[in-house]
Amino acid sequence: MEMDQFTRLFESIFIGRMNLKNRIVFPAVGTRFAGITGEATQLDVDHYSARAMGGAGLIIIPWVQVDTKLGRKVGRHRIDSDEYIRGMHDIIEAVHLNDSKIAIQLSRSIGKGSLRLIRKAKGIS
Ligand SMILES: Cc1cc2nc3c(=O)[nH]c(=O)nc-3n(C[C@H](O)[C@H](O)[C@H](O)COP(=O)(O)O)c2cc1C
Repeated sequence: MEMDQFTRLFESIFIGRMNLKNRIVFPAVGTRFAGITGEATQLDVDHYSARAMGGAGLIIIPWVQVDTKLGRKVGRHRIDSDEYIRGMHDIIEAVHLNDSKIAIQLSRSIGKGSLRLIRKAKGIS
């Protein structure tokens, strides 16, 4: 397959008002780099910065908990409190330095077992 078949991949595109420099997306891939309480770490900054340097137009941070009432998983990020803004901000700044955009995959709870846990919490069998 010739590279000139992929020219559109390297063209910029608008998603709403957001302009991506190309159509390459680094998908949500869990790393478990979050710290003890679920905060973003320097490892995250280095990891996503490297993906941006690699040229992805859009990067997705996987599986970030917006609610931790039903529990948490080790190494996963959370944004259910303002104290987690700082770490996310550091990742975003590092990615923007390379003109890439970054999105967060929001997660309500703790993954595949969530439905069972939600039912249990609500007393539904
Ligand atoms: C190690 C690993 C972790 C992943 N974690 C997530 C995740 O947290 N959320 C998600 O939606 N997809 C996750 N995925 C799926 C990827 O986002 C992506 O959809 C998939 O890897 C792309 O398909 P491919 O591997 O067939 O190219 C993960 C994939 C891998 C290999």
